[in-house]
Amino acid sequence: MEFRDLLPRRRMVRNYLPEPLPREVLERIVETVRRAPSAGYSQGQRLVVVTDDAVRLAIAEAIHEPDRVADGFEPWVQSAPALVVVCTREDDYHDRYRQADKLDEQGREIDWPVPYWHFDAGAAAMLVLLTAVDEGLAAGLFGVFAELEPVLREHLAIPDDVTPVAVVTLGRPAADPRWSAVTSRATRPRRPLTQLVHWERWGGRRER
Ligand SMILES: Cc1cc2nc3c(=O)[nH]c(=O)nc-3n(C[C@H](O)[C@H](O)[C@H](O)COP(=O)(O)O)c2cc1C
Repeated sequence: MEFRDLLPRRRMVRNYLPEPLPREVLERIVETVRRAPSAGYSQGQRLVVVTDDAVRLAIAEAIHEPDRVADGFEPWVQSAPALVVVCTREDDYHDRYRQADKLDEQGREIDWPVPYWHFDAGAAAMLVLLTAVDEGLAAGLFGVFAELEPVLREHLAIPDDVTPVAVVTLGRPAADPRWSAVTSRATRPRRPLTQLVHWERWGGRRER
């Protein structure tokens, strides 16, 4: 699929058909992590693929999905045949930025302007979302809420030095009218391009 055709098709889908996904399709989706950009080529992104029914149910329960389903929402996480938990290993960045070519003028590790390890997790997540569409699938994403993190650590055996950042749901799309009615995308207008993109300078041309 051409990228210009793929991009408008990407949206968060919050309900899936109950069909397992072929292993090779999942492999193609998660292999994209090796193509993700990373600060200093630290490659701190880590992915955990989850297809086990009991683990998916535990994750759904941790985010109170059964209550939502009882309220009439589609079973977003439970219906997804596969989840990809996007994680980051912060120490990979400190290790990399303590190498000679990355030290500041004082010979120290840089003051991090933003946590690059979180930025890079987002870049990896984006590749998973887009590749899912390229594979003819749908995907959704939610962040790792405080109450979800210990559940992920326990069920997925995530090591202490790795932080789960987001969970991507994958599957063949099913109708999600209840979710669509309440998600931010449906309830808030898309911001105008003029608010989001500035050319040359914020606020227009400098007066001479
Ligand atoms: C970091 C992050 C966390 C999100 N968490 C949730 C969530 O908890 N629940 C949800 O329904 N959508 C969640 N979303 C999806 C956004 O609501 C969605 O991307 C946004 O409304 C734009 O819609 P679109 O992606 O379908 O274009 C999250 C997205 C991101 C990037």
